[in-house]
Amino acid sequence: MIIPSSSPFHMLLCLVVLLLLPFPSFSADPDPLQDFCIANLNASISVNGFPCKPASEVTSDDFFFDGFTKEGNTSSIFGAHITPGNVLSFPGLNTLGISMNRVDFAPGGLNPPHSHPRASETGVVVKGKLLVGFVTTGNVYHSKVLSAGQMFVIPRGLVHFQKNVGKKKALAFTAFNSHLAGSAVLPFNIFASKPSIPDDVLTKAFQVEEYIIDAIKSKFSS
Ligand code: GLV
Ligand code: MN
Repeated sequence: MIIPSSSPFHMLLCLVVLLLLPFPSFSADPDPLQDFCIANLNASISVNGFPCKPASEVTSDDFFFDGFTKEGNTSSIFGAHITPGNVLSFPGLNTLGISMNRVDFAPGGLNPPHSHPRASETGVVVKGKLLVGFVTTGNVYHSKVLSAGQMFVIPRGLVHFQKNVGKKKALAFTAFNSHLAGSAVLPFNIFASKPSIPDDVLTKAFQVEEYIIDAIKSKFSS
């Protein structure tokens, strides 16, 4: 049957196609095609995710993770520590499109500005007082000081941070709609990449002299 392009049915069809087209971009990780797929982290082939461990070798332990039971060591330069509960540390998350972090903060500790290219983030403060902030692509800064029980959301890909503004240690748990959200941590991304971004790019980008760029780079050199 040929539908004339001016018919109401043709127009309705076009509208439906237009509405459906953007759907894949609403999701984060793709939906799983099986109940579970415990990641075989040692597989030699590379796919979008990890190949599954044979079902006959799966045990109950594959669905539990005790990596969040211990406090993270916050003696880094930033005074904060992320313990990831993602597909790499908890292979049972493979293909399920979810993961979490435990984030510990010393007094004054900072989880520095970073972004997650593959997920939105939500989090809850369990202990202490955290300043949580993010910046939109229009350079609008949103922030709030949260205490235990309060929750936040960071839209996918936006630069954000948390800082302990209380006098004691702080603790938060964060969650992502990806089994491996990825994290681009700005200070390392910009000043400690390998090989490094040329100084003339950074002096122009930040409108400062080369010695300032070199001083910042030296803080992150290992
Ligand atoms: C906090 O921002 C986190 O990525 O866990
Ligand atoms: Mn984050």
